[in-house]
Amino acid sequence: MSLLIKNGRIITASDDYVADIFTEGETIRAIGRNLKLDAGQVIDAAGKLVFPGGIDPHVHLDMPFMGTYSSDNYETGTRAALFGGTTMVIDFILQKQGSSLHSALDEWKGRSNNNCIGDYSFHMAVTDFNEGSKREIKDFIEKEGITSFKTFMAYKGALMIDDRQMIGLMEEVKKWGGLINVHATNGDMIDYLVAKHKAEGKLSPLYHYLSQPEITEAEASERFTDMSFYTGCPGYIVHLTCEGALNAVRNATKRNQKVFVETCIQYLILDASLYEKDFEGAKWVMSPPLREKKDQETLWAGINQGLVQVVATDHCPFKWEQKLMGKNDFSRIPNGHPAIENRMELLYSEGVNKNRITLNKYVEVACTNPARIFGMFPRKGTIAVGSDADIVIFDPHEKHTLSAKTHHMNVDYSGYEGWEVTGKVKTVLLRGQVAIDDNKCMLKKGYGQFIRRSKVSQVI
Ligand code: URP
Ligand code: ZN
Ligand code: ZN
Repeated sequence: MSLLIKNGRIITASDDYVADIFTEGETIRAIGRNLKLDAGQVIDAAGKLVFPGGIDPHVHLDMPFMGTYSSDNYETGTRAALFGGTTMVIDFILQKQGSSLHSALDEWKGRSNNNCIGDYSFHMAVTDFNEGSKREIKDFIEKEGITSFKTFMAYKGALMIDDRQMIGLMEEVKKWGGLINVHATNGDMIDYLVAKHKAEGKLSPLYHYLSQPEITEAEASERFTDMSFYTGCPGYIVHLTCEGALNAVRNATKRNQKVFVETCIQYLILDASLYEKDFEGAKWVMSPPLREKKDQETLWAGINQGLVQVVATDHCPFKWEQKLMGKNDFSRIPNGHPAIENRMELLYSEGVNKNRITLNKYVEVACTNPARIFGMFPRKGTIAVGSDADIVIFDPHEKHTLSAKTHHMNVDYSGYEGWEVTGKVKTVLLRGQVAIDDNKCMLKKGYGQFIRRSKVSQVI
């Protein structure tokens, strides 16, 4: 199978030029002007942008959480991702407290094996660090190709670990060349505020937001950053939302510390006023919650300052009937919102099209940096000879409207219903195969491969 993409405007994290791309099998074989190579299929990309397949390093598919399962499975979730120009995702395995990391890995393999359409990997969430799980870390990095370990400083009683466990885990992960991801919010403070609001009969989604004020995230981000500095273990803060937390990271850079930061598309473009819509606000009940307009500005600036390296989604969809589990108690609303399909188009439309970020920055935060940080570069995350032929052909001018009526995610509402977007994913290649064309998915479940990842580099 060979393919020639003609005359596209190729955008990488550093380049912007018009050329042809020749792919053979799963790989990019040649890039140049007026390539005279015979190909099984020719795609005319004149007037279109051509960029690397998006990588979303923060998704939760078919995940047991808060008494239910996230509603996209590995098939529907990776298909929706492809429709939106994301060719690879990194999902989270959750250790069950009292059980081993490997038993959780087996459980997650059972749900994901042969079920993905797009490529995928896992982060391993350590929720119970003890002598047993300590012994398993090396195997994950060296045998399984899973090099990042997620930790929760919140979700007390379910997923949270304490600082003693955090330090121990950091030392072990550093020893074998891995990285720690963190959900950095102060679980004890949140637990207290949730209980207080409930005792006062304050039960609507607004109180989910009011139970997780900015300070809970700023404090935990600083504490995590300090622990990462002390142990020397590379750290990556997931879904950072606000000015206070970003300032903690900014301070750490003054001692020449590198902390990787991810924000998510929703924190850049939505704000907490959505929680004033009575129970409809449950659509945006996620942790951390949406913040203020001033935080959006801080995050866009943080991207341009190089403090925020990744824009992900934290895709964790629940259907409306699942959200209704918390009709009378915000603390029972399953946390999370759907965005896996929308990230690339929204970031283009709100970021590039509105001159907040450049095209190169767009590719950097949505494609290249996730590959670099998580040990997949240059196989993934760029357009170069020898890289996987994961390619998006994008019309920068086409306007369309986001809606649950037309999206492909397995969820019956959209967090962005009616949102006007400029820019549309037209064709997507995954390892040399046309995955999306003419608004149709051409691949079947089982095509998506588990991607083994290398040890982590601290410098990007
Ligand atoms: O609300 C969220 N974020 N749900 C998914 C779990 C997590 O904290 O990432
Ligand atoms: Zn989280
Ligand atoms: Zn998450």
